[in-house]
Amino acid sequence: MHEYQLVDGAETVYRDGTIKLHGPEGFEAMRKAGRLAAEILDACADMVKPGVTTGALDDAIRGMMLDAGAVPATLGYRGYAHSSCISINHVICHGIPGDKALKEGDILNIDVTPLVDGWHGDTSRMFFAGEPPLKARKLVEVTYECLMLGIAAAQPGARLGNIGAAIEAHANQFRYGVVREFCGHGLGRLFHDAPEVVHAAKAGTGPELKPGMFFTIEPMINLGKPWAKVLGDGWTAVTRDKSLSAQFEHSIAITETGNEIFTKSPTGRDCPPYM
Ligand code: MF3
Ligand code: CO
Ligand code: CO
Repeated sequence: MHEYQLVDGAETVYRDGTIKLHGPEGFEAMRKAGRLAAEILDACADMVKPGVTTGALDDAIRGMMLDAGAVPATLGYRGYAHSSCISINHVICHGIPGDKALKEGDILNIDVTPLVDGWHGDTSRMFFAGEPPLKARKLVEVTYECLMLGIAAAQPGARLGNIGAAIEAHANQFRYGVVREFCGHGLGRLFHDAPEVVHAAKAGTGPELKPGMFFTIEPMINLGKPWAKVLGDGWTAVTRDKSLSAQFEHSIAITETGNEIFTKSPTGRDCPPYM
């Protein structure tokens, strides 16, 4: 059914549908890429405020990556010309940075993927510009809980579908919509690889989770209906009903005993409000 491939970190890997199982070299490389990605989002927490443009944030993000000897994996990816995705309010994901300034009360997702020594650290968090309304802050809090419940379900011997089942069950309690069009993904030396990690699924379905698998979990949760559409720029995904949307993303590994999160904030700033 699902093919797995053992990789030690040196050989060329292909997007051939196989699920890669990594060894110690891959873990070490992903710790480094994941740490840089998390540190960059930590720095963003100090920069996000009303009046700042998303383009200025993107420039700062690119600078931090280049200074660290990394390259933004998104730059030139399928024609994307920026170093991050910044998705404000009803934008679900893939918001394009530009001259738009943040407004008081905005909620926004910043998604970064530095490529470090050929390995991808992919993570995103929500940020507050000033003080958003309570319903927006609640959506952000529950979306973070969805991510962490999904990670808790990512255990060796469990099935991939358990992750989406845990996320969907939590979102349903609040009558939030789980976006179906965009998924988490295997990653490592490839940015987007098998398996596809859906955020709404049936427990007990999908491939078995095995030690050495690397993938992201990145639930997008809407205050309203789950429906998404992509704008004419070919990237910006928005909620069809214009309701607010939130997202958090970690890059993780399945281990012998559980899982390891590569992109945890070294300063504990994984979820706003950031102090
Ligand atoms: N970082 C995004 C993800 O989580 C992908 C962005 S691709 C881009 O998979 F081209 F839109 F930047
Ligand atoms: Co991702
Ligand atoms: Co990402």
